[in-house]
Formats: sequence, C-alpha cells, structure tokens
Amino acid sequence: MCGIVGYIGKREAYPIIIKGLKRLEYRGYDSAGIALLNGDLKIMKKKGKVSDLEASITGESLDSTLGIGHTRWATHGEPNDVNAHPHTSSDGKLAIIHNGIIENYQSLKTELEQKGHKFKSETDSEVIIHLVEEIKKSNNCSLEEAVRLSLQEIVGAYAICILSSDEDKQLIAARKGSPLVIGVGDGEFFIASDATPIIEYTNNVVYLDDYEIAIIKNGKLTLKSIEDVAKTPFVHTLEMELESIEKGGFEHFMLKEIHEQPKSIRDCLRGRLIPKDNHLFLNGMSQYMNKFLNTDRLIFIACGTSWHAALVAEYLFEDIARISVEVEYASEFRYRNPVIRENDVVIPISQSGETADTLAAIELAKSKGATIFGVCNVVGSSIARASHAGAFIHAGPEIGVASTKAFTGQVTVLAMMALILGLKKGTLSESRYRELLFELDTIPDKIQKILENAEPIKRIASTFQSAKNFLYLGRGYNFPVALEGALKLKEISYIHAEGYPAAEMKHGPIALIDEDMPVVFISTKDATYDKIISNIQEVKARKGKVIAIVTEGDKDIQNMSEYTVQIPKTEDCFIPLLSVIPLQLLSYYIAIYRGCNVDQPRNLAKSVTVE
Ligand code: AGP
Ligand code: GLU
Repeated sequence: MCGIVGYIGKREAYPIIIKGLKRLEYRGYDSAGIALLNGDLKIMKKKGKVSDLEASITGESLDSTLGIGHTRWATHGEPNDVNAHPHTSSDGKLAIIHNGIIENYQSLKTELEQKGHKFKSETDSEVIIHLVEEIKKSNNCSLEEAVRLSLQEIVGAYAICILSSDEDKQLIAARKGSPLVIGVGDGEFFIASDATPIIEYTNNVVYLDDYEIAIIKNGKLTLKSIEDVAKTPFVHTLEMELESIEKGGFEHFMLKEIHEQPKSIRDCLRGRLIPKDNHLFLNGMSQYMNKFLNTDRLIFIACGTSWHAALVAEYLFEDIARISVEVEYASEFRYRNPVIRENDVVIPISQSGETADTLAAIELAKSKGATIFGVCNVVGSSIARASHAGAFIHAGPEIGVASTKAFTGQVTVLAMMALILGLKKGTLSESRYRELLFELDTIPDKIQKILENAEPIKRIASTFQSAKNFLYLGRGYNFPVALEGALKLKEISYIHAEGYPAAEMKHGPIALIDEDMPVVFISTKDATYDKIISNIQEVKARKGKVIAIVTEGDKDIQNMSEYTVQIPKTEDCFIPLLSVIPLQLLSYYIAIYRGCNVDQPRNLAKSVTVE
C-alpha cells in the first residue's frame, strides 16, 4: 500500500507532488510527506491526510524542480510525524520514500546501529537509506551504485524513490513487488505508484519491472537491473482519460463508481459481445482455448471482493461449462503447499493487479507449470503482466476503497468466459447460448433501472443506520453476493456484518437473531426461490427484521418482509450483476448517515501490496 510520487524536470515540483499524492491517497492516509531538493534537502511530513500536510506548510520556500512525496499506510511503526516518509540518512543528505515491507530490516538495523547509524523512526523503510549511505561511504561509490548494491541485501517488497543533496540533480527509483510507473514527458519525468498522478501531464509511461532501477538525470532515463544489466525502457501509451479519475459531480468516488456500472459493463462488453451476430469473443481466451479444453479443473485465486467474484465463477463455470472449480484465498493457497498440475488453469482475479498475496500465489502456480489467465482491471499492472494471458474488465480507474464496479466487471468477464467455454465444450446448447447472449446485453440497462430507484434503499439505510449487526443471506448465485454485501457494509460503515448461505443459518447464526437484527435476504426468483422463502420464515419466527432484495413483481416475499427492494428479472447466472447493486447502495447510504468517510475507510487501503 502507500502512494509514491516523484518529479524531476523544469516545473515546480511541489504542486505536482501534492496533487499526485491526493490522487494516490486511496492507497493509504496515515501520514504524508514530501522531500524537495534545492541545494539542500527540505523535508516536510505530517501525520494524517495530504491536506493536513498542506495545512502545516506555511510561509516556506517551496522552490524546487525535483522532489518526492509519500502517503503512508503504516506497517511498521504507528502513524505519527516521525514515522512518516520521507526518511533520511544519518548525515541528512539522502532521502527515501518506500512502499512495501523490508523483511530483514531488524538484522540490517542492528548491523547499521553497530556501525554508528542513528535511527529516528520505527519503520522498516528507514533502514534502506542508512544502508545506501553506509555502502556509498564504505565503497566510495556513486549513489546509483550504492542503491544497486543495497538492494541486493534487502529481502522483502519495495518501490522506492531516492534523492541526494550530495550529487548532481537526479532521481533514483527501484521496485520489487510494489508497483512503480514512470511518466515520460518533454524533458521531465514523473514517478508514481499508479498512472493517476501522471496522466494529466503525459500519456507515455514506462512500467518498472521487479529488480529494476531507474536513474533519471540530465533529462534522460536509464534503466538497469540490480545485477547491473542495462535494460531498454519500453514506453507504453496510456488510454486513461483525466475525467475518469475525478469525481465528476458525485460526492464520493464510491457513489460515482456505483453509478458508473451501466457504462463500465458496456465498456467491458464492447466489441466482445454482439448478440445479433451470435458473437462473443475474448481474445486472450481464444489463444489459450486448448488449455481451457484440456484441463479438468479451474483454480481461481483472489482476495476480498475479487474473491467473491471468484465464488460467483464457481457457480458459473460448474453450471454452464460443467468444469470443476476451486476457489482459493490467495493468502492461504500460497502457504498451503497446494497440489498444482501442469494442465491446471489458474485464474487470478484482481482489480488493482497489485495485490501481493495474489501475485505470490501466481508465482507459485507458475513455478509448477500451470497456465495463468488473469482477470484484472488495471492495464499494465503486475498481475496482468505476470499472467500468460487474460481478459481486462475495462471498468476504468476504481478509486473508492470499497470495490464496486470492479466486482460487476469481474463477474461480467467471468460470465463471458463461462459462456464461451460452455459452447465450446457442448455443455451449453447453441439456442441457450444465444438466449444468454441477448440477456447479458440487457444487464447495463437493468442496472440503470435499479440506480434510478434508490429511494427505498435510502429509507432502509436511514432506518438501520444505528444497527450494531447485520446478517446477509443468500443461496446459489446469491450466496457470494451476500458475502459481498456484508463486506461492503463492514468496510465503510464499521457495522459488524456477516454473509452466510441462507440454509447454513440454522447451523449457528440463527442464534444471533432477535428483534434488533436486520437480516438482508437476497431472495430473487431463481432456482432456490422456494427454499429461501422458508429461510425468511425462520427469521421472522424469531422476530428478525427482514430486508429482502426481490425480483420485480414478487408479491409473496414482499408480503412477508418489512422492507423490500425490487430488481429486474434476469437469468439466474447474471443475477449477481443486479442483486449486488442495492447492497452497494445500502452500505453507501448507511455509511453516509453514520458520518463515515466512505472513500477512505479507517485502517484500509485500496491496493494491498503488502502480505
Ligand atoms: C473490497 O471492497 C476491498 N477493499 C478489498 O477486499 C479488495 O477487493 C481486495 O483487497 C482485493 O483487491 P484486488 O482486487 O485489487 O486484488
Ligand atoms: N513499511 C513502510 C512503513 O510502514 C511502508 C508501508 C507502505 O507501503 O505504506 O512505513
């Protein structure tokens, strides 16, 4: 987590860095800090948000065309001014910002302390800059060489930027495991954790790879590996629009992103789905079709909301393509010594494409010979690049920490994949396939309809804003949706919520139900409809407050529930794309009524690049 920004060029660095940090604040907001170089290094840092840092800087000269900035999500050392980045060397001539975790920091710190280095913070990050200082002094080498040699001693994950007041104007950056993008302008360079601080200035970017070091000086970018092998920078052209990373009139990114879903799904389907031509095509999948046809199982790996999308995939692929599916938490999979075979197809799902556990799970599966098919949002992200093939969800930048449009984008891609595979395998008839293509095409309009009818959801949110607990229950395709609804509520409103398969309730959670317990049933008209009615009755019998998400025109559940929200009818396999929408809105409005910061919920960061 944490966001990094750097600038070297002809303009004033400070405003570029502050603006960039605000764009990256979704990655962490425990503290913020900046280092500017103008002869000497000027360090300014503060606990709290970027705006707190800005407010603390008054009347100082900020003249500089070279600087770095950091917004922190603390891993080592509590959020305070001292632990805020940048950190400096003992002589105060070097400054560093770091994203990641240095696993061997304790032993390095002890060694460096024995050599006389004085540490100011409790962070793991500070050790890097003292190590660089030590190696530079003892080897009498350049900063560039000292950074390279230091990184050979470091175990863990890092994206770093380093400044020095001792050598010619230069910016040094490196990465392993944490993302870094370099924007290439006209005689100027931008560095950031993702492209959002950059696109305002240039569309040309270079993605740094693991174990690569970038040295920017005299208007030139040089890349090398930490083994000292020269690398050629490959310049990609970004297609991101500036407006896609701004709030566009919405109060919060989360609300904007919820409302974007008709468009983001259309973007995801564009060119891939043309029902009248019986056309459904995913380029990456067609290239690896043999792998999909020759494997007897698919293994999905993901975290958080993306894991919920993976769970939807289990229903989709088993149902439509009759292939067995395993759904794994990336963090468990990688440490479990899993059985992975060469013909396995492993499908990581990740919005950011940077989640450390998912990335590590991919490397493990790859090392055993599996084929990796990534489902990501961020083009150029580490997971996208680590995959053999894949499909982007094309949802556009998702900035709200609570994932919304990425979930529906992921489910859309997974549904397309299942349909393609079902047809190829013959488990789906041509006529049924055609029906499903037409139905998938209607999903954006159906989501629009739900969004236009948010009033009942607002009323429910207002009624239950002070609830202490929530239960979310669903069956079949709506079970993962129940998990997702509960996660959304927990993360942005801090209300304890549990998602459960509705039928499992009687094996334990039913004990929680009393007249104070709101129970959200995702009870659409699908294959499990009759069964879930019985579950609703079980809750009612214990005086729980039933909030039901139902299919338009369903009078039966409406009559037995205190509160209902209607959603349009669709095929069972596409229901999650609709039924999740009211749950996203419910969590949003509850959080608003409770006065929570929905875009920056406490303790969380958008991109979990630490394990
Ligand atoms: C969702 O609302 C979360 N904030 C979180 O669970 C997220 O889905 C998870 O960290 C995975 O991220 P990824 O999709 O970028 O890999
Ligand atoms: N480990 C570093 C710290 O605690 C960096 C964390 C981050 O990536 O935000 O300061």
